[in-house]
Amino acid sequence: MKKVFAIILALCMMLTLVACAESGSTDSDVKTYKVGVAIYQFDDNFMTLYRNEIQAYFKTLETDKVKYDVTIVDGKNDMAEQSNQVDNFITQKMDVIILNLVQTSSADALISKVVAANIPLVLINREPLAYDKDGNTIDEAYEGILNNAKVCYVGADARQSGTFQGEIVRDLPTKGDINGDGVISYIMIEGDPENIDAQYRTQFSVKALVDAGLQVECLDDQVGNWAQAKGQELCANALAKFGDKVEVVFCNNDAMALGAAAAIQAAGRTVGTDIYLLGVDALEECVEMVNNGTMTGTVLNDHVGQSHKAVDVAVMLLEGKDIQNYYWVDYVKVVKEG
Ligand code: BGC
Repeated sequence: MKKVFAIILALCMMLTLVACAESGSTDSDVKTYKVGVAIYQFDDNFMTLYRNEIQAYFKTLETDKVKYDVTIVDGKNDMAEQSNQVDNFITQKMDVIILNLVQTSSADALISKVVAANIPLVLINREPLAYDKDGNTIDEAYEGILNNAKVCYVGADARQSGTFQGEIVRDLPTKGDINGDGVISYIMIEGDPENIDAQYRTQFSVKALVDAGLQVECLDDQVGNWAQAKGQELCANALAKFGDKVEVVFCNNDAMALGAAAAIQAAGRTVGTDIYLLGVDALEECVEMVNNGTMTGTVLNDHVGQSHKAVDVAVMLLEGKDIQNYYWVDYVKVVKEG
């Protein structure tokens, strides 16, 4: 009798355990979303800040019930590599993809793949564009490319950053004309020319001066591909070639401005006295330089605002909420305090 009782008791205990497991351990209550983030190139000062902030911000949004399994991959500035990475994200059944394109001209192909796999997509930093047969961008077609309820672009309007660079020069006591010959003689160091940020910053920095009725002369305009070492090399060459004629050095980003600052110093020139230097991004070291006078100004490219917006929109997509196709984050002028 005792034996039968013991067996019944053991059976009851087993059943209770099984019931417990089925009614949901803490683990089965947790929803883990798989997030794929493809960055055009890890070796980029600005995008490094941006991607670290994406990761950190996803962490802050986690709760007992929701987790984000974030995979970030390096496109190594190679479109074929990035295309494979996106294929892998699709195979891995990511719940959402955040994409910083290597080439905006490949936007269509990549967006189509992700849309066909029914995965929501947030494009960041490099605005996807449409091109006509001559390779010129077509403004009206932007909307067409993103015309999908689960695809959007989060970025900043690069026209604004270029305009701010020009306005910083316009507002200097000399208006950028150090030698007083009535002309602002500048050199331009451009980012990747396929990138609309580079095109607009190049165009709108100068436009702000021209719109203010000032005369400008472009001494040199070269492509530094966003990279510090290239910025240094190009600025050094231009200073060797044009010497004191160079009054303003416009760099499409701060990484190249850091390089240009080194070249300016090596050439024995002094920012604020016999030359001006402008960047975009407001990297921490450049904000310090603006404050100690070794850079004339920069423009905050708000990686915190942009990454948070991108993540917030990704979460909205995960929750099945409606989104806009475009989200814009403002640039901010950075000049010496006080
Ligand atoms: C930033 C650059 C960066 C580029 C990458 C731009 O918005 O200003 O620093 O290299 O994005 O696409």
